[in-house]
Amino acid sequence: MDYKLIDMKVFGDERGRLISFEKGNNCPFEVKRSFYIFDTIPGVVRGSHANRNSEFMLIAISGSCKIKVDDGKKQEIVELNTPHQGLYLGKMMWKDMYDFSYNAILLVLTNTMYDEKEYIRDYDEFLKEVNR
Ligand code: TYD
Repeated sequence: MDYKLIDMKVFGDERGRLISFEKGNNCPFEVKRSFYIFDTIPGVVRGSHANRNSEFMLIAISGSCKIKVDDGKKQEIVELNTPHQGLYLGKMMWKDMYDFSYNAILLVLTNTMYDEKEYIRDYDEFLKEVNR
């Protein structure tokens, strides 16, 4: 499964804490785009797609959520509940994000510009492509 949880170094001092992402250090790719998911309505599932070209780093900078990752052969569930951890997802991983806590903010970093054509939003099509 092309995913891993990355523990981030926390720079803490008497003023508070700070975490940095840097290519080759704690982030495997060069970041071209970032976005964040917030005000998620209870009970909804977000994501539900795979990306042909994008790699992602997901960080619950506030609150928590679960991510079901699926490589077309098996599925695993990862919970993000601390800003100290990032979930790296490789290309062609199907992901469902759900169980967002109240006030959850999920920060997402990726190596690509937004391009709807690299999204696979149909699960059967994903299985076809990933098992090709
Ligand atoms: P969507 O892919 O459905 O979000 P998620 O997978 O997190 O549930 O995207 C929601 C909308 O936002 C959709 O209209 C596309 C748009 N969008 C952008 O314009 N740029 C982006 O970088 C992202 C991630 C989404």
